[in-house]
Amino acid sequence: MLTTSLASLRLRNPVMSASGTFGSGWEGRTFADLSRVGALVSKTVTLRPRHGNPPPRIFETPAGMLNSIGLENKGVDWFLADTLPKMKSLGTTVIVNIGGEAIDEFVVLAERFSRAGVDALEVNLSCPNVQEGRLLFSTEPRLTEQAVAAVKRVATVPVFAKLSPNVTDITAIARAAEQGGADGITAINTLIGMAIDWRRRRPVLGRGIGGLSGPAIKPVALRMVWEIARVVKIPVLGVGGIRSAEDVLEFLCAGATAVQVGTAGFADPALMVRIVDELPSLLAAANVTLADVRGALHAAPAAAPAEGCARAGHERVRG
Ligand code: SIN
Repeated sequence: MLTTSLASLRLRNPVMSASGTFGSGWEGRTFADLSRVGALVSKTVTLRPRHGNPPPRIFETPAGMLNSIGLENKGVDWFLADTLPKMKSLGTTVIVNIGGEAIDEFVVLAERFSRAGVDALEVNLSCPNVQEGRLLFSTEPRLTEQAVAAVKRVATVPVFAKLSPNVTDITAIARAAEQGGADGITAINTLIGMAIDWRRRRPVLGRGIGGLSGPAIKPVALRMVWEIARVVKIPVLGVGGIRSAEDVLEFLCAGATAVQVGTAGFADPALMVRIVDELPSLLAAANVTLADVRGALHAAPAAAPAEGCARAGHERVRG
């Protein structure tokens, strides 16, 4: 009933972890049966190890969280030897998120992970926390297209492009990713924000600025998923502030094919599985299927309430 086709993948359900919020999944295995989630998405892996940014790197905000991790990870060699086998043993679809300072690095990573038998790649074109700024491919349509096309030339698995909301028009970037051959778009990464300790006259985060995630950004994410789904034919993976089965259905209604649960998982690592459990009864109570809800906002005439959403009891998205 929840089975979801995503590019050439067949997922058990549309609920997966968001990169950077759930490790490789291995860390969360004692909290819930992770074979029950649609997919696990790894923290970004880079070619070489990265130490990340100076602390503090996390700060809780009234409706979310700021992070400035800076892509800390042990690099691809470590990930392939240590982490990937653990991730694969969890019994669900494995998506590895890759990050590069230059297109060549994305290519090497895509080749190595394809060979290692991951199910899909998510290309992180959008990390806001790197000093060099070179990782932020997704503020430029041309660079986005080039990076995605280069990865697609070597990848033997589906490639999803993770985009930044820190742009004027995310649809131009999404179109560029599609043009480059992306099999899907992940939207959105974090919104660049800041917290200040006025007593010390200092920013709270070691790097000064960071990426905002959590419920605070859900309306922005919904809007961007809706905008992207209007202009591309490839599937959209919705992410941003999802905390419940209700939230999942809102994203599907906006045009997402699948969703990623991120910040909420820090407080409740079993949340994804609970959402999977709750979806069937929520749909049954509204007498609809996932297919009725998915993309319903796009099927409806502009001025009228979306039938699938209304039937699913989602009065809030109708306004
Ligand atoms: C980070 O490691 O800084 C977060 C990753 C991201 O936002 O892409």
